[in-house]
Amino acid sequence: MEDIVKDKKILITGGAGFIGSNLAHQLVRKGSEVIILDSMSENYGANEYNIKGIRDEIQFKKGDVRNRKDVIDVVENVDAVFHMAAQLSRPISMSTPTEDIETNCTGTINVLEAIKDYSPSAKIIFASSQAVYGKPTEKPLTENSKVDPIDIYGANKLAGEKYCSVYEQVYDIDTVCFRLANVYGPRAQLENPKYGVINKFIRLSLNDSELTVYKPGDMLRDFVFIDDVIQGLIKGLVSDRANGEVFVLSSGTSTSIVELAEMIVEISGKGEVSLVPWPEDWDQIKIGDVTFKPEKIQEYLNWSKTTKLKNGLEETITFYENNRQEYNI
Ligand SMILES: NC(=O)c1ccc[n+]([C@@H]2O[C@H](COP(=O)([O-])OP(=O)(O)OC[C@H]3O[C@@H](n4cnc5c(N)ncnc54)[C@H](O)[C@@H]3O)[C@@H](O)[C@H]2O)c1
Repeated sequence: MEDIVKDKKILITGGAGFIGSNLAHQLVRKGSEVIILDSMSENYGANEYNIKGIRDEIQFKKGDVRNRKDVIDVVENVDAVFHMAAQLSRPISMSTPTEDIETNCTGTINVLEAIKDYSPSAKIIFASSQAVYGKPTEKPLTENSKVDPIDIYGANKLAGEKYCSVYEQVYDIDTVCFRLANVYGPRAQLENPKYGVINKFIRLSLNDSELTVYKPGDMLRDFVFIDDVIQGLIKGLVSDRANGEVFVLSSGTSTSIVELAEMIVEISGKGEVSLVPWPEDWDQIKIGDVTFKPEKIQEYLNWSKTTKLKNGLEETITFYENNRQEYNI
């Protein structure tokens, strides 16, 4: 895999955020020429510290995927684009739907158009989400399960997948979509509580606070470690068999929310788990258990997870303990 990405020019939109920056570190290690386009907007996961250590080895452009010119400026001669820039809070997508449309739909179209017009041989790897399934109709979910989003974020991620499919079929642009489960690990932002349960719990635990779990806390989720996700995304880039495909990228292991909270408290040695009622603004978008069977990615890309939740959490918690100031903990 090293040889294939070595010396390749790779654009990462949203590259100062959680997944994009981890990807950038890995690609720089493998000898790729990395360009990051990131708006560095407040409330998202962008953090200068995420690219510490590689800042001088990459090209960084502050710019917005909603602005077509910003995208055109960075696509010339690229071999691939990891399109990670997004609005990714489900509740925020419901309170300000047009903001979500602008980043997640218009932004994705801008990337596809810029590649079509200026670098048509480049491959696009799109970060989709488990949110496309809405309330899961089966357990475990696969790529063939019914997609039926129940929030604007999920609907727009599904639109992003469909846009990729249109450009693949009509303009012959290579695209691969990954439906990511709950990704966790170093370099995520822990400040915005609407940004994912695992981040919220780690922050509360490190601050020796209450980890409030919505009753009864038995809802199942799939938590996948960032290093495994990066491996999957890169395999998607280097494999021709991935072209035009959609993959579930998940650990394949289910954990309840209360189990997760207890594990975090046990590992960090701080905080306390308490069960509370659901907040009102989440009532309409509660989705029940979400479990996955990541068989297609195993078969097509020879990918399977290598990090167990406990080990991944230990590495993650140690990282934030050592970098409290940088992540405002
Ligand atoms: N983290 C997860 O668990 C998860 C799960 C499913 C899907 N995803 C998807 O993976 C991708 C990356 O997520 P993440 O966790 O790294 O999020 P993140 O918020 O840490 O990173 C997103 C980055 O995109 C940038 N960005 C936002 N709007 C932009 C715009 N208009 N123009 C340019 N840059 C912009 C932000 O500044 C940020 O640096 C997203 O597409 C997200 O929907 C993530």
